[in-house]
Amino acid sequence: MCERMFKTVHTRVLSADDPAALREAGRLLAAGELVAVPTETVYGLAADAGNPGAVRKIFEVKGRPQDNPLIVHIADLEMWAPLVEELPKEALTLAEAFWPGPLTIILKKSGRVPMETSAGLDSVGVRFPSHPAARAVIRAAGCPLAAPSANLSGSPSPTSAKHCFDDLCGRVPLILDGGDCGVGIESTVVSLVGEPVVLRPGAVTAAALSKTLGRPVPVSAAATKPLEAGATAASPGMKYRHYSPKAKVTLVEGTAEAFARLLDRAEEGTFGLVFEGEDALTKRPCVVYGKSGDPASQARGVFAALRELDGRGAKRVLARCPEERDGAGLGVYNRLLRAAAFEVIRADSFGT
Ligand code: TXA
Ligand code: MG
Repeated sequence: MCERMFKTVHTRVLSADDPAALREAGRLLAAGELVAVPTETVYGLAADAGNPGAVRKIFEVKGRPQDNPLIVHIADLEMWAPLVEELPKEALTLAEAFWPGPLTIILKKSGRVPMETSAGLDSVGVRFPSHPAARAVIRAAGCPLAAPSANLSGSPSPTSAKHCFDDLCGRVPLILDGGDCGVGIESTVVSLVGEPVVLRPGAVTAAALSKTLGRPVPVSAAATKPLEAGATAASPGMKYRHYSPKAKVTLVEGTAEAFARLLDRAEEGTFGLVFEGEDALTKRPCVVYGKSGDPASQARGVFAALRELDGRGAKRVLARCPEERDGAGLGVYNRLLRAAAFEVIRADSFGT
């Protein structure tokens, strides 16, 4: 279980409200170490974005594919310009409307961003998080921080310090505990390299981006469809199986009642991933991931629910499909689609 390719370190978990802990995080990061940090979206595994050796540790610790670039986090707008070739007006318009907050903006990178951070791409995604602890840690470190989600590659993103500990104990010296993440799914990623396009849907919707820029901002087809064999991913992260619990997950469209009937007839040991109150409709064990029709609550709960299913030993999961396919609902749908490896069925097509 505890097989490690590298030396095990003692992992401390300290409160993100403790100024001494924030100073310690800053010290470790400035010295090229990794720290797991709360943000408003999910917890991030941070390193000095300008230190290639520190950034390499992120890839080692997570088991992250080498070609998947990292997002760089800043704590004031002055930190942005040195990271990019230029700051177009549209980027500033988006920053003014949505930062600090759950939006990552991709632009052509400057020479200051090491190849390790951008995974060989000539662009860099930058985010100004709104979480006070994330901002305090960036300031304490005194540099922009590269930070992917603080999970082992392939497992659901962490939305609590406990999730980080479960994945990273023995692998990082410090986890800052800032409680549960308020948004719960990762930032919206918008590329402004070429025509604006949403590469990863999140709490900041394509409609909101489009309204702010006064022109269409489409969502990449890869958000809801598997990449065709041989195609190149605009966002390398999109091509990996993601957010996967150990169980085989199938997304189920249809009413709560039709879902419950299907679940009741499913093989023994199948779990339901359902909305609040719906566990009463079935005799099967269920994990709840939010309220029906409330994408924000679904986003807050979805990753913790996927982890809980693993914790309870689920081998097979039928998941209620979010009804909302635009706005924030698209972000939740995208994460569940990927957890289900794009397998979607209709409950009512199986009769009653
Ligand atoms: O909310 C978030 O964005 C969290 C917190 C910690 O800030 N971070 C996060 O990072 O989700 P990560 O590494 O788990 O996901 C970053 C995604 C990946 O799919 C990656 O491929 C894509 O963003 N990405 C990063 N830089 C990119 C670039 N230059 N071009 C295209 N895609 C990029
Ligand atoms: Mg991730």
